[in-house]
Amino acid sequence: MNHSNIGIDAGGTLVKVAYSNKDLIKYKLFSSHRLDEVVSWIRSSFHHPEICLTGGKQQVLANKLELPTRSILEFDATCKGVAFILKQHQLFLGDSYILANIGTGTSIHIVKNGEQQRIGGTGVGGGTLMGLSYLYSGKKDFTEIIQISRDGNRGNVDLKVSDIFEGVVPPISGDLTASNFGNIGKLSKEPPSQSDIIASIIGLIGETVVTICEQAANRFDSQSIVYIGSTFRSNPILKNIIKEYTEMRKKKPFFLEEGEFSGAVGALISLK
Ligand SMILES: Nc1ncnc2c1ncn2[C@@H]1O[C@H](COP(=O)(O)OP(=O)(O)OP(=O)(O)O)[C@@H](O)[C@H]1O
Ligand SMILES: [Mg+2]
Repeated sequence: MNHSNIGIDAGGTLVKVAYSNKDLIKYKLFSSHRLDEVVSWIRSSFHHPEICLTGGKQQVLANKLELPTRSILEFDATCKGVAFILKQHQLFLGDSYILANIGTGTSIHIVKNGEQQRIGGTGVGGGTLMGLSYLYSGKKDFTEIIQISRDGNRGNVDLKVSDIFEGVVPPISGDLTASNFGNIGKLSKEPPSQSDIIASIIGLIGETVVTICEQAANRFDSQSIVYIGSTFRSNPILKNIIKEYTEMRKKKPFFLEEGEFSGAVGALISLK
């Protein structure tokens, strides 16, 4: 039994837990549909823990826990956690950066002098990946969906700028997507595979988020964009799409190891 501090970010899909163990931070993940598992794990693993909660499901979890808990605003917790993780990895991003959290939905923030301001978001996020993939493939398991996406060819589904500009040099990079899911000429001749479709869904999500972030970065005169959220878990395709698309837009992308636990880490360190 540990006497420990615990930070919990109970989100729309996943519950992220960060807890102190000697001088280390440890992580644990649960489904938001199985809050009882979180409760029994805490009861069996900790003795009088100090708990700080954040995220949309925090109140439901607090009611089930029947233990004293503190609370921190989700966006502040996330920003605190990101700053902590950046420092741990000795990453210094300058005066300001854009922070995009691709969770169930996507939230976008400007972080300046350690303070965050939410500047926008989009309903296109990890939940979109789950929902559209389910509609197209009948699969509900995240790991399985990502596995299927690995063999996908987006060229069978999406239309690039270079597909439109035939015989002339396009005014913008030919590698940019002109229309996600817009390659109707090819789609109608040759039905795409499940892998092609899921890879293109990931493309749609990644490129939508990058586009909003790039505009936000220009507005706030920032060069760096930090991407976090569980949608990146074991998801190299999303990471690559976002990396390449951000660089194509002349900004610097950063991905944090354990970045999906930022909110939980922020809640944890706010206890100290
Ligand atoms: N094991 C998993 N089960 C379900 N979804 C997963 C899993 N691993 C990764 N994901 C992806 O992560 C997304 C959820 O990300 P995250 O945990 O950051 O969001 P959240 O905090 O629960 O939601 P929000 O912040 O919007 O309330 C899912 O929509 C899915 O795309
Ligand atoms: Mg979240």
